[in-house]
This record gives sequence, structure tokens and C-alpha cells, in this order.
Amino acid sequence: MSNQVQADARRPIGVFDSGVGGLTVLDAIHRALPGEDLVYLGDTARVPYGTKSPESVARYARQAALALVQRNVKALVIACNTASAVAVELLRDSYPTMPILGVVEPGAKASCEASTSGHIGIIATESTIAGGAYQAAVRRLRPSAVVHAQACSLFVALAEEGWTEGELLERVLERYLGSLQQSDAPGIDTLVLGCTHFPVLKNAIANVLGSQVRLVDSAETTAAALTELLTDSGELHPEPDRQGEIRYLVTDGTARFARVAGTFFSRPVRAEEVELIDIPQLQK
Ligand code: DGL
Repeated sequence: MSNQVQADARRPIGVFDSGVGGLTVLDAIHRALPGEDLVYLGDTARVPYGTKSPESVARYARQAALALVQRNVKALVIACNTASAVAVELLRDSYPTMPILGVVEPGAKASCEASTSGHIGIIATESTIAGGAYQAAVRRLRPSAVVHAQACSLFVALAEEGWTEGELLERVLERYLGSLQQSDAPGIDTLVLGCTHFPVLKNAIANVLGSQVRLVDSAETTAAALTELLTDSGELHPEPDRQGEIRYLVTDGTARFARVAGTFFSRPVRAEEVELIDIPQLQK
């Protein structure tokens, strides 16, 4: 391997999200590729993306990508489902030589592989469901699939409050998930957790839906897809046994980010480790 290729492969992987929830994706990537350096950007000044228009989310995603490209990343992961749903192709056009991965395609693919009956549920934010990107991705891969999509707007706030179990959460889950298990139609056998925050509610969701429904965690499937992508392009860090470093960037509220991070990330984040940045302006 040439020195240049080695130097390029030592660069960090950039991961961005609307806020703190994307740490579920960062966590999965860090477990899958512990030797990689990671730069995480949470656009905490503008969260939530899940209620914004596709035009605004696309602009935010372009700015977040630019901030990471300016920090010399070798690959980009759009951890935010809402942003992945509108911006993957846009960013691939802007950075044609950069490996870029969103969470929608890997999640949709895993659900098609996991489902026996072809009845697949998708839960996500309002914008992700309204945009139809997950539904389209599932139907592209498995045209006969019957897709049941449900926006679960309250789940994000509950997860950020750390309410990942308990009676109140179960009542809310039942209210939202009830429509996926209608008594007059075959129920789903697979459910895509199509939002960064939902993996932390996995146990509670499994309790409500029962063990016959497989849960597809798009954080895990994205980490696996990233590993495959970097392996194929020869861009894995040349020393996989090293301990990779993680850098955290936010656009607002370093202390809150560090505090709430504990719900989504398996290792503690200290406020002093989190850097406040200005999001770069786009040229056009
Ligand atoms: N990160 C968002 C997603 O995965 C959830 C939070 C938000 O609405 O910004 O869709």
C-alpha cells in the first residue's frame, strides 16, 4: 500500500445527526470499527429535523456535511433518518469521490431480509414518514411487500428525557403502535426503528409488540454497511487494533449534549470534550 493511501485511510469518519440521538449510530460504528477515529456533529441548534420541511432538512444536511468535509473526513455517515431520507443523493452529487452512507437503505434492506410474511412496519419521525423514503426503499427491494408506516412524534422527546421504560412509555407506545397490528389484517412480522432515538426504546417496543415481531435497528445495520463499504474501497484504518478517538462537535448546548448523551451512547461524554462550532454557510 502506498504512503498516500495509508495516510488517507487514517483520516476520521464523519457522522452527523440533528442532535444527540445519532449517538446510537456512532455507538454501533465504534463497536464495529473500534480502530477508526470518528468525528460526530450534532446540529443541536436546529434539532428537531423531524418536523421540518424537506428543503430545510436538505440545506441543514449540506451544511453539516460541509463542516465535516472541512475537517478532512474520509467518509460521511448521515446518522439522522430524517436527513438520510432527503439528502443522500444530494450529498453524493456534491462529493462524488467520498463514500457516503445514510441509514435508510441499510435499514430497508435488513427489514426485507428479516421479514417472512412481507408485512413490514416502519416507525420514524413525521417528516421521514411523510417523505416516503423508507416505504419506497422497501418496495424497491421487495415489490410485493406490504408496508405499514407510522409517525411516532412523541418518542423522540421521551427518549431524550431518559424515559426508556415504565408504564407511561408503554401507554404511549401502545397508542402509536396499535395501528400496526390491526385485528382485521395480517400483522407485521418486522418493524424498522427508523429514527436515531428508537433503539433505546427497543426493549419497551418489543414488550408491546411481542416476540413474533423482529425489530430492525438501523444503527446496527448502518455500521455493518459502513464496514463493508470501507472494506471494499480499501479505506479501513491500516491499524485496526488501535483505539480510535472520538471528537464531538455541536452547534448549541455542550452541557446538555453531554448530559443527554448517556442515554444514547455506551460511554460517558464530558461537557469539556464537546466543541461548540458555527455551522458553515453554503456558497449557493
Ligand atoms: N435524528 C432524527 C431522526 O433520526 C430524530 C430527531 C429529530 O427530529 O431531529 O429522524
